[in-house]
Formats: sequence, C-alpha cells, structure tokens
Amino acid sequence: MFKLVSVIFFIIMASGCHGDWWETMQLYQIYPRSFLDSDGDGIGDLKGIPERLSYFDDIGVNAVWLSPIFVSPMKDFGYDISDFYKIAEEYGTIDDLKRILTEAKKLDIKILLDFVPNHSSDQCEWFQKSIRKEPGFENFYVWHPGRENPAGGRRLPPSNWVSVFRNSAWTWHPVRQEYYLHQFLPEQPDLNYRDPNVVAEMKNVLRFWLSVGVDGFRVDAIPHLVEVDVDATGNYPDEPLSGATDDENDYSYLEHIHTREREETFSMVYDWRKTLDDYASETQTSSKVLLMEAMSDVDIVMQYYGNATHEGAHFPFNFLLAFLNKEAKANKLKQSIDEWFSKIPEGRVTNWVAGNHDQPRLATRYGPERSDGVVMMAMLLPGVSVTYQGEEIGMENFYLSYEDTQDPQACKDGPDMYNITSRDPARTPFQWNTTKNSGFSDADKTWLPVADNYLTLNLDSQLKAPASAYKMYEALAQLRRTEAIQNGSFQIEALNDDVLVFTRTSGFETYVVVINTDKDNLTVNLRSKFPNLDNDLIISTTSVKSPKIPGFVVSANNLELVGYEALVLRSIS
Ligand code: NOJ
Ligand code: MG
Repeated sequence: MFKLVSVIFFIIMASGCHGDWWETMQLYQIYPRSFLDSDGDGIGDLKGIPERLSYFDDIGVNAVWLSPIFVSPMKDFGYDISDFYKIAEEYGTIDDLKRILTEAKKLDIKILLDFVPNHSSDQCEWFQKSIRKEPGFENFYVWHPGRENPAGGRRLPPSNWVSVFRNSAWTWHPVRQEYYLHQFLPEQPDLNYRDPNVVAEMKNVLRFWLSVGVDGFRVDAIPHLVEVDVDATGNYPDEPLSGATDDENDYSYLEHIHTREREETFSMVYDWRKTLDDYASETQTSSKVLLMEAMSDVDIVMQYYGNATHEGAHFPFNFLLAFLNKEAKANKLKQSIDEWFSKIPEGRVTNWVAGNHDQPRLATRYGPERSDGVVMMAMLLPGVSVTYQGEEIGMENFYLSYEDTQDPQACKDGPDMYNITSRDPARTPFQWNTTKNSGFSDADKTWLPVADNYLTLNLDSQLKAPASAYKMYEALAQLRRTEAIQNGSFQIEALNDDVLVFTRTSGFETYVVVINTDKDNLTVNLRSKFPNLDNDLIISTTSVKSPKIPGFVVSANNLELVGYEALVLRSIS
C-alpha cells in the first residue's frame, strides 16, 4: 500500500515540478578560439561549430555559452571589444552565428553570448570619440585631470587604485590630456555608467543580439562595473591598504571599497534583467537568461540574484569548486557546497562551475586521478551544471614556453614569472583526435600549441575505449535526465576525512555519489550517515580507474573503495 501511494505521489511530482529551460540546464562553455578551426588559419572559428552541435546533443548539453566573438584587437582575447555589434573577421560573420542558432534550435540547444559591459577596447570608436570629446561621447569613459603634482610636471593619477592586471588603474592620455580608468589592461578603458548615454548604448547591445536570436548572456567582470563618484572637491578617494602584500602594483594591495560591487552595479543588473524579460514577453519567446561572472565573497555574490523588490541575474556563477584544488579533501568540499546552500536566497537556482578559461584546468588542479569525482559533483549536485570545453574528456593544463605564451596577464610578468599568472595552459586547442593538431586545425602553427598529450588524450580515442572520461561524462548526462537529479532532494555528508557522499532522491529512486579524495584504499559504511539507505546498491557509473563494474551490486554498510575512486550507486526500494 505504502509503495502504491508513493508511486502515485512520485508520478505527480515528476509531471508537476519541471521548471523553466535554464533551471537545470547542462551549460557548456565554448572557447571559440580553441574549439575548431575551419579555415586553417590556426584560430578556432564559428564555421566549425554547427557540425559539432550533434556532439553536444550526444553529451546532454542543452545550452552553450560562447566566449567573446566580437571585433577586437585581441589584447585580452576578445574581452577587449572594439565593435560590440560585429563579429570578429577571424571568427566569421553574423551569418555564421545565425547558422549556429538555426542548427542549435533544431536540437533544442540554447545559445548564450558573452556580454562585456565594464570596458571596451581602446580601439573602439566610442573611445576614440571620447578622446576627442565628440558630442555625446565626452563622458563615455571615466576621465579625470589627475592630482596636482607638488614636484611640478605631469599631474599625478587621480587615486591609488590598482588594476586587476597589475599597476595603476589610471593611464594618462596624451591627446585628451587626462587620465582614464581601466580596471584591466590600459587597452581596456572602463565605460562610465554614470553617463546615461552609456547605459542606453549597452542596453541597445543586449537588444541587438537578442534580436539576432540568442537566448541570453554571460556577463563579464560585473563587480567592476561602477566605481565611487568624485567627492565634493572633484577628487576620487584612495582605497585603504589591505595588508595582504607589500607590492603596491598588485591588485590585492588595496581593499577595493570604492571600485567593486557598488549599489549602482546591482541596480544596473536589475535593469538588464528587465530588458531581457521585456524582450521575451514582447516577442513571446522563451526566457532570456543573465548569468553573472563575479569572483567575490559568496555573501556579495548572492546579491546578484536580486532582492524582494527586484529580479536580478538568473544566477551568478558559483566558482567555489573552481577555486579548490588537491588540498581539498571531503570536509573542505562539503563545507564549500554547504556554504553556497546556506547563503543562496530561497527559491533560487544554484549552479556548479569547476573550471573555465581563467583557471587552471580542473584535472590539473585536483590531479587527474580526482578529476572524475569533481565532474560527478558538477553534474549531479542540484541545479545547473557548467562544463568548460575539454573537461568532458579530462583535458589537463599544458605548460607553454614563454615564446608561445599569449595571455597578456602573463606576458608582462616576464620569462621567470609568466607561468604563475598565465591562463594559456587551460586555453589550448580542443583535443579531437590523433591527426595533425589533434584535429583542431590544418595550420602549421596554431594560435596556442596543442597539448603534447593529445595522442593519448583525445575525444576519438575515448569514444573507442571501453571506459573513458568521455564515457563517464556521457553516463552522467544520462543520469541528469532522471527525476532524482533534476528535482530530487539532496543530502551531503563527509563520512570521514577522505570520503564525501551525497544523495539525490525522488520517490523510490535514490542516487548515491561516493567520492574517495585520498590515495589509499578504505572501507566505509554509508549507513553510518545515511541510515535510511538500502544495503544493496547497484553500481550505476564509476570513475575511469574504478575496478567496479556497472550493474553489479555493492553493500552500503561495507563498501570497499580504492584510492581516488568515485562512484554513482543507485537504490530502488
Ligand atoms: C573575466 C574574463 O573571464 C577574463 O578572461 C578577462 O580577462 C576579464 N574578465 C576582463 O574582461
Ligand atoms: Mg580559423
């Protein structure tokens, strides 16, 4: 009788609680420059993407975010845009994007673009006009004559602010004879959101790409959007020293009380949300989403969700797993996951990011032996999963010579230090197969070299192998479609220092994810922390190196694990 009642309940739940398309999406980040080069110039482009959309379909991906594809001098690889309305020639044309959108639609895959609102390139027409104070552009950027220099000569920077990429955030412009603000490279001047012209223009940018047919945006560097205004004397206040370092050119030298996450920034986000919602309702199309990139304290990050009176972003990225590494054992992982859940405003959608184009690859950070377990977390924890291109095949960092290094953040650090800051090791071309350049490009030289492990680590070989990172990812994608993973309840425990376990349950179906974060074999009793679990559990999916075979049964109160083993078990009672 109990079972019958539960079955009915389960059916009702299963049919009744599916949310909007983005709420449990499996989002994939394409870094176009390194995805697929269709014209043999060594640089990935848009033309190659449509033919690979079926690949995304195979691996369950239902939303793709493209890192910036707009016209750019590529000083920061597209995060320095010189024409917000046009696609970079080396990536293709608007027709290539439209083709992606048409083909993606057939597969029900949503396409998101990168929106970079904080800054433009110094080559952008807007900046050029602003230099010359052309009407309407006088205040498009943050200009200031600077502080008087007691020693005479050129005036001093307006404040002590430091750029994220090191050195003063102010650069003197010889033509306008003023300083301009840049929170990143000098070639990335900050737009001035105190100017209504800027606010209007950037909303126009959003509407333009929406009208082309995209489904939303990943919003770049949002914490930096607005800075404090000048004070009554017309000056900018200095930021206090943080005490974290003595290096006054390092971003962490200051406490960024005047240049990050100001009230005006959140208001702008709420406004953009309205722009997107209005567009969706005017055109009677599906929801258009806004995802925030904010590397800040979790308490602050949560404010992007909005508040009682305003809808904010659909979600800010949750980077907690992307900031952890080999040091993080079971308790630390649980603590990070708990932190997000304890702070997220009620009813909001969560998400899991374990890597991106700015962080070392997850397989390198956690060690390749732990990579499968981390991917299981990102894919099976509640909410949205985010996969950075190559994570599904376990791509690792590839360390480049200084000569091959392209990342501006690293180039300026010189040959001895560049490897500390370089983001290139996580940006090398996708490893498709064992042919020239791993199938990425026909060119003799690619923009970044292909990692030298491509003969053994590539998609094609993993498709053919009986067990591989790819096959595991594919199996996890299948699991994501179950009711338990889509909408099921969630419980997480560290069984001891080494073993993390979480469950997802819907009706009679429970999935149990077990991750050994240590190199040693050990035996655990899952029922010590999950007393309601059945004793007999069916092996559903395993990490590649696990000796266990899917379909076999293991015992919950006496589960033997080998070093670094990760498992998904299933119980149906
Ligand atoms: C964050 C982007 O992900 C990163 O690649 C870029 O350098 C900065 N924002 C500046 O736009
Ligand atoms: Mg190309």
